[in-house]
Amino acid sequence: MTWLLIAFDGKETALNKRAITKLVNTHPPKTALDQAFYTDVDIYTRDIEEIYLKSWLYAGHVSEIPAIGDWFLFELAGESVIIVRSDTHEINALVNVCRHRGSRICLTARGCARKLICGYHGWTYELDGRLRNAAHMQKTFDKSGIALKKIHVEVLEGMIYVNFGARPASFEVIRNGLTECLRSYRLDTAKVAHRQTYSIDANWKLAVENYSECYHCAPAHPEYTRGHSLAKPGAHSEALMEEVMQRASACGLSDKSVSRIYLDAEGFGADYAYERYPMWQGHITGSEDGQAVAPLLGDVSDYDGGTTDIQIGPVNFALAYCDHVVIYRFTPVSLDRSECDITWLVNGSAEEGKDYDKERLAWLWDVTTTADKRIIESNAKGIKSRYYKPGPLAHMEDYTWKFISWYLRAIKP
Ligand SMILES: [Fe+2]
Repeated sequence: MTWLLIAFDGKETALNKRAITKLVNTHPPKTALDQAFYTDVDIYTRDIEEIYLKSWLYAGHVSEIPAIGDWFLFELAGESVIIVRSDTHEINALVNVCRHRGSRICLTARGCARKLICGYHGWTYELDGRLRNAAHMQKTFDKSGIALKKIHVEVLEGMIYVNFGARPASFEVIRNGLTECLRSYRLDTAKVAHRQTYSIDANWKLAVENYSECYHCAPAHPEYTRGHSLAKPGAHSEALMEEVMQRASACGLSDKSVSRIYLDAEGFGADYAYERYPMWQGHITGSEDGQAVAPLLGDVSDYDGGTTDIQIGPVNFALAYCDHVVIYRFTPVSLDRSECDITWLVNGSAEEGKDYDKERLAWLWDVTTTADKRIIESNAKGIKSRYYKPGPLAHMEDYTWKFISWYLRAIKP
């Protein structure tokens, strides 16, 4: 380890595969990650190649592209993908690279078009990616068989997931595990009420590690802690749990708790979890005063006093209240910068200004994420110190350890 400490002088390092394997193999159990996992460029490359380009990633919601030809871009690791609704209302994920000389085709964040036209030489594509027209090409040019490259795309209850992998983990495993649990929220008919991106000056793993534990909730999130029992371990009694689960059933919500996350190579990427638990008395949703912020979702008939944590794929998370759902997406931007993108979903028939107030709706998770950004960035600064040494994790960080141990297996050369 000594040579590693010498090699690191506050700048990035570049470890070869042998050194990465050694770091993974010697990682002590239930311990934070070594400095190199946050500062090494070769490890970052493996993060992208072995995790982000092979995992199911939340791209957006069907309500963002309601009409034929509506599209938005999903961008990651230098790649750009056009998520577009086709003439037959299918959702396609087309790589935003012209098959002519490789130009980007769509240049803005979102838009609507009956055809996708490359601005460079005018090559024109159908909404399913097939090349329709290429002007002034020689007579021998055969456009049939030429199409924009597609990546895998799946829609789960209105939520669009993409996967860059050649042979991604079966999304059916996730679909079978979660469809019934999610059904009563009717997220397929929900709409995006608000979306916000938070730029975080930290390696993406620090953001995911932070999201995975509530050890920091009591010190860092007084607003969240007021309503959510997760902030205090073992604080809610079994009787309260039973009472809320009974009310959940009566309200049409799933009282199931399912979990299949951070598996070995054999289950890589087909992770999911759904767990409902009580909020504190007087709190019926995640808001400043614990009171409703939007009309009830879908088929949910009343407030049960609970909330749900959801995981879909290894790096996508969500929280489901009776009147809104908050979807979290963490994506790497560079070795030491990441983005946290949050989507707030409400009942599709709710009207802004009448049925919900956007600021009131987004208040809790905006306040909480702003605080998270601050603590994650402080963590990132400390980790770069010559004096940083990984410390032991608490029981309240079991999910962080689950993530770390899965991560180490996932990137091992
Ligand atoms: Fe937090």
